[in-house]
Amino acid sequence: MKFLVINGPNLNLLGIREPEIYGTYSYQSLIELIETTCRNEQIGVEIYQSNHEGAIVDRIQAALGEVDGIIINPAAYTHTSIAILDALKAVAIPAVEVHLSDIASREDFRKISYAGMACVKTFAGFGFDGYVEAIRFLKKHLQK
Ligand code: DQA
Repeated sequence: MKFLVINGPNLNLLGIREPEIYGTYSYQSLIELIETTCRNEQIGVEIYQSNHEGAIVDRIQAALGEVDGIIINPAAYTHTSIAILDALKAVAIPAVEVHLSDIASREDFRKISYAGMACVKTFAGFGFDGYVEAIRFLKKHLQK
């Protein structure tokens, strides 16, 4: 089983950006947590981060026939990008959405998630643990 984990804009600045919302751990430590979790679960993983909407669309398209599942935190593009929603629908690879913060209890403009409409499940508000939960959930979902 192989997963692609996609992280959107500004997540590379974890640890620096708004630590009261996103915590003090770095993006590198998130990568290490995802890799360790996948290794323990015997899942192959590729982790991709981009600040560019089109690059994320390209990466989703390239995943066709390459991975069994996608875990995606589209960051700010969550709330704006129909292109990312359409790409997820186009490849039809089972996908799970993750957000570090609880987007439902923040500003109104964060309440809508377009990407989430193409995902089988969302984990929001659990910090880094949300990625661990998403990996375990997607593995079980694919084994059904
Ligand atoms: C985020 C929530 C988004 O609203 C925000 O734009 C982000 C990060 C999260 O992980 O909590 O950049 O996706």
